[in-house]
Amino acid sequence: MQQAQVHYNDAGTPVSDLFGDIYFSDNGGLDETDYVFLHKNQLPERWFTHPRPFFHIAETGFGTGLNFLLTWLRFRQYKAQSTTCQRLYFSSFEKYPFSKADLTKALAAWPQLAELTTLLAQSYPVALPGPHRMTFDEGSVVLDLWLGDVNELLPQVPEQNKVDAWFLDGFAPSKNPDMWQQNLFNQMFRLSHSGTTASTFTCAGFVRRGLNDAGFSARKTKGHGQKREMLIASAEQAAEFTPQLPDQITVIGAGVAGINAAFALWQKGLKVQLLCADAEAGMGASHNRQGAVYPNLHATYDLMSSLSCQSFLYARQFYACWLGKLEVAADWCGVLTLACNDNLVKRQHKIQQQPFALSGLFSPITKEQASQIAGLELPYDGLFFPTAGWLCPQDYCQQMAHWLSSQGVEILYSTQVHQITEHEHYCELETSAGTLHATTVVLATGAQLNALAQQESFPLRQIRGQVSHLQSQTMTPLKTVVCHQGYITPAHQQLHCVGATFDRSSGHSEVLAEDNQQNLDLVNQTLGQPDWFEDVEVMSAKAGLRATVPDHMPVLGKQKQLWRFGALGARGLTWAPLLAEVLACAIAKEPLPLTVQQLDSIDIQRYLRHSTAEQPL
Ligand SMILES: Cc1cc2nc3c(=O)[nH]c(=O)nc-3n(C[C@H](O)[C@H](O)[C@H](O)COP(=O)(O)OP(=O)(O)OC[C@H]3O[C@@H](n4cnc5c(N)ncnc54)[C@H](O)[C@@H]3O)c2cc1C
Ligand SMILES: C[S@@+](CC[C@H](N)C(=O)[O-])C[C@H]1O[C@@H](n2cnc3c(N)ncnc32)[C@H](O)[C@@H]1O
Repeated sequence: MQQAQVHYNDAGTPVSDLFGDIYFSDNGGLDETDYVFLHKNQLPERWFTHPRPFFHIAETGFGTGLNFLLTWLRFRQYKAQSTTCQRLYFSSFEKYPFSKADLTKALAAWPQLAELTTLLAQSYPVALPGPHRMTFDEGSVVLDLWLGDVNELLPQVPEQNKVDAWFLDGFAPSKNPDMWQQNLFNQMFRLSHSGTTASTFTCAGFVRRGLNDAGFSARKTKGHGQKREMLIASAEQAAEFTPQLPDQITVIGAGVAGINAAFALWQKGLKVQLLCADAEAGMGASHNRQGAVYPNLHATYDLMSSLSCQSFLYARQFYACWLGKLEVAADWCGVLTLACNDNLVKRQHKIQQQPFALSGLFSPITKEQASQIAGLELPYDGLFFPTAGWLCPQDYCQQMAHWLSSQGVEILYSTQVHQITEHEHYCELETSAGTLHATTVVLATGAQLNALAQQESFPLRQIRGQVSHLQSQTMTPLKTVVCHQGYITPAHQQLHCVGATFDRSSGHSEVLAEDNQQNLDLVNQTLGQPDWFEDVEVMSAKAGLRATVPDHMPVLGKQKQLWRFGALGARGLTWAPLLAEVLACAIAKEPLPLTVQQLDSIDIQRYLRHSTAEQPL
C-alpha cells in the first residue's frame, strides 16, 4: 500500500503531498469536527435515546484519526452519564494510511487527545490492505480501520454492518474526484437504515445530487465558522426487523476457541455458560507450555495470508492487553522463520516480491542477521516477525476462565456432552452432569468439532502432534522463537519447547518416546547445532490433536441452532481472538470485522452439500 506523504504548512496543519489539500482546518480543526460531523449528525444527543446497545459511525478517509479520537472522547463523556448505548463502532476507510510516526506527530497538536492518541498508536496496524479491528476501553469503543480504496472496499462490507451516521470526509471533491463517485453514495445508502444520517463539509452540487440519487434526502445547512454551507442527509428505508438476541449462549469446550468465544460473547453483553469435559480449561490441544503466535503467510497476499495477518495483529493487541492482567507467561521476542529447504526458499523469495512485504510486519533477513537475532550461528536466511513471540496457552485458558467466572460466566467443568437434540426453539444437551437446555449452542470442541450434532458433517481431520520439553546446560541462550520445519522456543523455566510432530494416522494423545526422538533429530539436523543437545534431557512432553479441514482455513458458522467454531490447525493462538470476535458479532448482530469474501472463506457452509443460503455468516 502507498502510505500518506505529508508536509506541514505555516499553521502546523498536515498537508497531503499527493492531493495538495489539508487534513483538517487550519483554524480550529477540532471545533470543525465537532460541528460538521458530530453536531450535524445530532451526536452525542442520539446516544442517550439510541434503541440498540451499539451505535455505528462510518467515515470516508481516516487520515490522522482526528475525527475518530474526538468522537471517542465524546463517547467517553457520554458514557459517564448514561448506559443506554453501550458500544461505539467506528468504521473508517483509508487508501493512503499514515505511518504510526506521522500519525503521532500530526496528533501531537491536540494535548486534550494525548491519552487517546497513545492508545490508538499502540494498536495502530501496519499498512496491510483490508479491515483491522482495534478495541479500546474494555470493548466499549471499537475501531475498524479498512485499508484500501473506499469505493472498492464498501461493496465488501457485510450487509449486517448497517451504519447509524456517516462522516463523509475526504479531500475537497475538486482535489480528489476519484473518491466522490456515485458508487460511494449508493454503497452508503445500501449500508444505511431508516434514521441513518450523513454529514459532509462540502456543499458541492454533484455530491448533494449524488446522495439524493442514491436514496438519501440531502440538503444544505450552515457551514462551520466562515464557511457558508455544508450538506446533511438522512435515509428512509423499509422498516427493519429488530433481531431477537438469545437469552443465553452455551459454549462447549474450554480450549483457546471456547475461552475466547466465551469472552467475546460476554463482552457484547450476552449471558454465557461454558461447559467442558475436562476438570479445568486448556486441557485439550490448548495445553502447551509455549505456543508460538505469528501469522501464516502464503506466497501471495491471498485470503489465508490476509486473514492470518489481520488475526495476528488483533491477537497481539488482545494478548498485550490481557496477559498483563492475567499474569500469563509470554515473551514477544520475535519469531524467525528459516528458509531451510527448497520449497521454503522459493516461497519466501516470492513473498519478498509482493507489495505486502513492505508493510513492516516482517523483514527478510540474511543468515548473518538471523544468527544475530537468535543469538547463535544459523545456516539459513529467513523472515523475521519482530512483534511476534510465544505465550503459554494453558495458563491463558485457565486464568481467563477464572476471570470470566468472576464476571458471572457460569463454567461447568467435568461435564461431557454426549448428545445434542435440536428442537424447534431450543436444544437438549445430554451431559455427564444431567440434561441441560440451551437456546443457542456454540461447539468449540477442537478435534471433536464434527461430533454431537444431528446435522450433516464436514471433512474435519485430526492431526496428532507432540512437543518435547528439553533442558540443556550447554546451549547458548536462544533469543527468539526459531521455526524451521518444526520449532524451538527460548527457554521458559529452564525448558525449551521443541516440536512438533505431525501424524495424520493416529487419533490418540499419549506421549510417545519415538516422537521425542523425532523432535530432537529434526531440530539437530535442520539447524546443524551438534553441541546443543549433547547433554540434553527430555524432561516431559505433551501431545494433542490439531483439527483442520482440507483448505486449512478455520471453520465458523451456523447449522440450525448450532454454531461451530474451530479447525484452527497449528495456529489456534493467532486465529482465536479475532474469530471469536467475529462469532460474537455474528450472534449479537453487531458490525463484523471481516470482508464478505473473508467471511465466506471460513463459513462452514462451504463444506455442506445441503448448504442453506438462509444462514450464511
Ligand atoms: C503439539 C501441538 C503444538 C502446537 N503448537 C502451536 C503453536 O505453537 N501455536 C499455535 O497457535 N497453535 C499451536 N497448536 C495448535 C493449537 O494448540 C490449536 O489450534 C488449539 O489449541 C485449538 O484449540 P481449540 O479450543 O479449538 O481445541 P482444544 O484446545 O482441543 O479444546 C477443545 C475442548 O473441547 C472439549 N470438548 C470436546 N468435546 C467435548 C464434549 N463432547 N463435551 C464437553 N467438552 C468437550 C475438550 O475437553 C477441550 O477442552 C499446536 C497444537 C499441537 C497439538
Ligand atoms: C481530509 S482527510 C481526512 C481527515 C480525517 N478524517 C482526519 O480525522 O484526520 C481525507 C482522507 O481521505 C483519504 N482518501 C482519499 N481518497 C480516498 C479513497 N479513494 N479511499 C479511501 N480514502 C481516501 C486520504 O488519504 C485522506 O487521509
